Amino acid sequence: KIPAELSSIQELVFATELAQAGGDVLLRHRKEGTVIREKARNDLVSEADLESERVIKQAIANRYPDHVILAEESENGLDSYSEADHLWIIDPLDGTTNFAHGIPHFAVSIAYYQRGVAKCGVVWNPAREELFCAVAGEGAWFQGEQMHVGTQTRMTDVLIAVGFYYDRGAMMRRTLRTIEGLFAEQIRGIRRFGTASLDLCGVASGVYGGFVEYQLAPWDFAAGRLIVEEAGGKVTTSAGDDLPISVTSVLATNSVLHPAMLDVIAASELPNAED
Ligand code: IPD
Ligand code: CA
Ligand code: CA
Ligand code: CA
Repeated sequence: KIPAELSSIQELVFATELAQAGGDVLLRHRKEGTVIREKARNDLVSEADLESERVIKQAIANRYPDHVILAEESENGLDSYSEADHLWIIDPLDGTTNFAHGIPHFAVSIAYYQRGVAKCGVVWNPAREELFCAVAGEGAWFQGEQMHVGTQTRMTDVLIAVGFYYDRGAMMRRTLRTIEGLFAEQIRGIRRFGTASLDLCGVASGVYGGFVEYQLAPWDFAAGRLIVEEAGGKVTTSAGDDLPISVTSVLATNSVLHPAMLDVIAASELPNAED
């Protein structure tokens, strides 16, 4: 599935193998049934997440014993990762709620960074056998074909994807206000499919004109942001700043619509009393 042009890039080939190995674990658990528990209210984890992560981490440790790994289910603090010479950022199951409810829209997301800079990223949807990948400076690819963001210049022509973090408070209210603001701009529609890595890939492939979520963690966006950028899009925080390797808001667009999206987002800020 990796395009021939990229088959000599070892980290990409390896990241793809890792994502597919993780995906095999997820599909097996889906077939056989898996034990699901709540980490916090509405925030789920399953045996599938944990085993996918174990398999991926073990393979990295075997091959690159000195590389640093940041993985969702075993992270303890997000400090100093941006300084690591070699960093793998792993979401072993993105879209756990979909997975737990039988919706075949979930992914394994794997990114490789050097000293804070994304070098390659892979998002693998095992249920659909779809591979999105990117290499810095070499473009973004879907099923072996080069991929580009949409060319729409008007908000009226696009679908926008949003995500709600597990929060049911101020962040959720702001997301709802943003949706209202987007409809006021007469966008064509809103989508909320529940897997941030695939939402980002949807911007990269031109399905969405933009995607916004007010809180994500590095494993949700590390691969997807490179895929969007290499497809010609733009990714920043919701305030328009560079993305840190830490918990942050994320705005991704086809680039042209970035200013219009930032305006809608700025207008959706909650008055302090409502925070
Ligand atoms: C979640 C998904 C979801 C997004 C949440 C993420 P998880 O990741 O990407 O789409 O709305 O903010 O935490 O927990 O399923 O890996
Ligand atoms: Ca999670
Ligand atoms: Ca995730
Ligand atoms: Ca996850």
